[in-house]
Amino acid sequence: MTATLPHNSAAPSPASPSDFANRLVLGIETSCDETAAAVTLGGTRVLSTVVASQHELHAEYRGVVPEIASRAHAERIVPIITEAVRAAGIRLTDLHAVAVGNRPGLIGSLLVGVSAGKAVALGMGVPLIGVDHVQAHLYAGLMQLGDAPPLLTASTAFPALGLVVSGGHTTVYRVSSPTAMSRLGWTIDDAIGEAYDKVAAMLGLPFPGGPNVDTLARTGNAARFNFPISRLDKGSLNFSFSGLKTAVLYTLKGIPGELEARPPLELTPANTADICASFQHAAVKAVILKLERALEASPDCRTLLTGGGVTANSHLRAELTAFAARRKLALSLPAMALCVDNAAMIAGLGHHLLAQRSWSGDGLDLTAFPSGSV
Ligand code: KG4
Ligand code: ZN
Repeated sequence: MTATLPHNSAAPSPASPSDFANRLVLGIETSCDETAAAVTLGGTRVLSTVVASQHELHAEYRGVVPEIASRAHAERIVPIITEAVRAAGIRLTDLHAVAVGNRPGLIGSLLVGVSAGKAVALGMGVPLIGVDHVQAHLYAGLMQLGDAPPLLTASTAFPALGLVVSGGHTTVYRVSSPTAMSRLGWTIDDAIGEAYDKVAAMLGLPFPGGPNVDTLARTGNAARFNFPISRLDKGSLNFSFSGLKTAVLYTLKGIPGELEARPPLELTPANTADICASFQHAAVKAVILKLERALEASPDCRTLLTGGGVTANSHLRAELTAFAARRKLALSLPAMALCVDNAAMIAGLGHHLLAQRSWSGDGLDLTAFPSGSV
């Protein structure tokens, strides 16, 4: 049986797309180690986005500890929602809907967000909608944060190639609308963000390592170490980063024995920067290579949508920009604040999903799914 939410009689039933343009949606995101809430207007304009990162809680473990993450979400979710509503200059009673990221992610963390979303939706008498976190990452580049409108809109961007690069995903899609996409290729082992974080850990850099590798790579020599660029089978659109990670490990630790013996590498600042630059060169090159292949397989896509934490990487952003210019693609890169996990992308995509369903949401039996994303 589906439990339904009572309808808020104060909120008028939407009649037309122009009515949808004035709708305010609260987004909630707790899939991993960021507790986030945001308010969007019309599914595109970000009125507020508040993100409380838990990095300091997980740093000593060099990775996210699920139980610590869900406890921290439980402590923080109410103040974060309150702050997002305040920063948007609205009241809770002004909301037209609540969108919550309910898949994929850490189950205990997701459940905190889903429970909070139900509480607000029930209390305000507005619809609640569950949103796929990975799909939402691709939507982030179509949102307006600040005064400058996005280059592309949901009505001009499709069909598109989609690239999600994060701590948990490295996936290429063919995208036909903000809510419809099919997977063309994905990683067969580590996600690219995970590889960044593991290499950073090998170098003794603080967690999460991706941004630190990015910064150090700027002063390093990318040609110093010839790390492998994974191609996999001819024409494959899948990714693999474990070989690259192992190559970095052996370069650092050295190789014992007679054949190809190499001494360990001393971790001087210059050597560390060169490792970062060479690793990043190989990782980003592998991504661009697969995008080239994906475009050959889907030549009607004239747009490239990108999203996920690793789209904050300066080298990847530059290479994506160059690739798009070379192949005459319109490029959607999220604003820096919308690359990593945030709730604005959840609210924005939630708005689209609701609009498709004449503003009727999920029931109160909405639950969380740790896996099974698009
Ligand atoms: O999207 P996200 O916040 O969470 C997931 O859905 O996984 O992505 C987090 C990942 C982490 O692996 C982090 O190290 C990486 O994004 N990341 C970066 C940069 N900023 C964040 N990786 C490389 N360069 C960056 N500037
Ligand atoms: Zn994410």
